Amino acid sequence: MTEIIYPPAEKTLQVQTPRGAVHLLGPVRSERLQQLTFAEGLRNFRPANRQKEALVKIAALPEGMIYAALHGETVIGYVTFHRPNKYSRWSKHPRVLEVGTIEVAPEWRQFKIAKKLLELAFDNPALDDCIVITIEFCWHWDLEQARMNVWQYQKMLTRLFGSVGMQKIPTDDPTITEHPANVLMAKFGKNVSPADLQLFAELQFEKKISELPACCRSSAAGRQGCS
Ligand SMILES: CC(C)(COP(=O)(O)OP(=O)(O)OC[C@H]1O[C@@H](n2cnc3c(N)ncnc32)[C@H](O)[C@@H]1OP(=O)(O)O)[C@@H](O)C(=O)NCCC(=O)NCCS
Repeated sequence: MTEIIYPPAEKTLQVQTPRGAVHLLGPVRSERLQQLTFAEGLRNFRPANRQKEALVKIAALPEGMIYAALHGETVIGYVTFHRPNKYSRWSKHPRVLEVGTIEVAPEWRQFKIAKKLLELAFDNPALDDCIVITIEFCWHWDLEQARMNVWQYQKMLTRLFGSVGMQKIPTDDPTITEHPANVLMAKFGKNVSPADLQLFAELQFEKKISELPACCRSSAAGRQGCS
């Protein structure tokens, strides 16, 4: 990946919630994360202590970034940014950065913490040089806690990521099309070159247009985002 220079200093934002003040900050350095406690409720993807280890590793990567929501010295939410998995087609693009996961502990949900975390992260000028993607796999979603079906949850997430300018992007990536509720979203940074936009468009559809089912041909031909 072409080197992205991340701002060395953390940016912060204070959010008032019915449970008290929450301090948002990032990018959080790996050493700092190591010292923080993770709320037990941060276990949507794996137990909180193991998720903490994973985040500490991401923060130490040259292209990794973590934005965290703290109540006191306890992490109650976070969002991760990293390069796509090396086996994913998106890793072939030098400018793609992926929002890996976003999670807020259940007792802190619906206080706009996720929305504000994204707002703070996307204020980072380093993202102007990137194509930021998120691949939303429905098998990761906490449908039970949210009391939503997959379509309602998909709508909630696309609105959430849409709040920072990400848009739905059509693709024939089989890991995404495996379930119709899965969704790819992207935001194209303002400094991304036309050549890098073109390379991304080529990755959206690796099958030739003539090999696609009729329903996908028009969006593939345009290779643009859809709503
Ligand atoms: C998805 C998740 C991060 C949202 O966190 P959050 O802090 O509760 O979200 P916010 O309070 O910022 O809400 C963002 C928007 O979604 C809506 N929303 C969130 N949860 C909702 C719910 N259960 N019911 C209805 N609306 C909901 C909010 O009303 C808000 O909409 P608005 O801006 O139009 O008013 C949280 O539910 C979570 O951690 N889920 C488990 C992990 C997950 O599914 N991550 C996404 C895949 S990586």
